[in-house]
Amino acid sequence: MTHTIAVAARQVDISFGSEEAKVIALNHTDFSAHTGELIMLVGPSGCGKTTLLSVIAGTLTPQSGEIEVFGQRLDGLSQEELTTFRRKNLGFVFQSFNLIPTLSVVENVMIPLLIQGASHAVAKKKATEILEKVGLKGREEGKPNALSGGQQQRVAIARALVHEPPLLICDEPTSALDKDTGAQIMEMIRELSRAPNRCVVVVTHDFRIFKYADRIAEMEDGKIKRVVDDPRTLDPTYL
Ligand SMILES: Nc1ncnc2c1ncn2[C@@H]1O[C@H](COP(=O)(O)OP(=O)(O)OP(=O)(O)O)[C@@H](O)[C@H]1O
Ligand SMILES: [Mg+2]
Repeated sequence: MTHTIAVAARQVDISFGSEEAKVIALNHTDFSAHTGELIMLVGPSGCGKTTLLSVIAGTLTPQSGEIEVFGQRLDGLSQEELTTFRRKNLGFVFQSFNLIPTLSVVENVMIPLLIQGASHAVAKKKATEILEKVGLKGREEGKPNALSGGQQQRVAIARALVHEPPLLICDEPTSALDKDTGAQIMEMIRELSRAPNRCVVVVTHDFRIFKYADRIAEMEDGKIKRVVDDPRTLDPTYL
């Protein structure tokens, strides 16, 4: 099978802090993901996973290196161009959910559709449908803070999936979910990755969901250490 590169990071460097207290988060990092695949990114806390996701999402600009998503170079784009790129291409499940507390659950999920120009009625219908799919029927009109952690995480997932983005990036999407709910959510996420010209990148510590990956990239100290082509061979005990 021939693969088309959906996401490529080449020799990317990111460091934080001053010269005396510098933290190197990404260190000449290379990473790539293909269209039609679900790739997982695993590795110890602090190794740079969220930082790498931010770079390929265009929310963090690397100090050096190249980022290419669906053939378009992101390094060098203006903030406005990056915003347009994200609106068109990206769904992002944040590690800390990032729901808007003043909006209702359904309004949170409607946001990507409204930004893309959908009418209020269409956005509400689609948001309501996906909330039912993630098991939150009846909770649409409440505020996110009235929900449990796992329920809030499912709102964040619904918001990232609702507009069927070409690039879906999920940072620990099952961290607050039980085994069965996590499996249901991963089925939905995997289904999305199977459509042509799509790509899904999932950061996880949850070895119960490794089986949903096409490939698993192991990260350590800001670099990809190894890429496993058959995730079933991966020994979860190292995590
Ligand atoms: N905004 C920031 N300011 C300063 N340091 C940061 C910032 N973001 C990340 N770092 C540092 O960069 C390194 C990589 O962080 P990152 O959040 O990418 O790790 P991670 O692999 O996602 O960890 P976890 O599994 O705990 O979420 C860490 O040492 C972290 O402290
Ligand atoms: Mg992280």
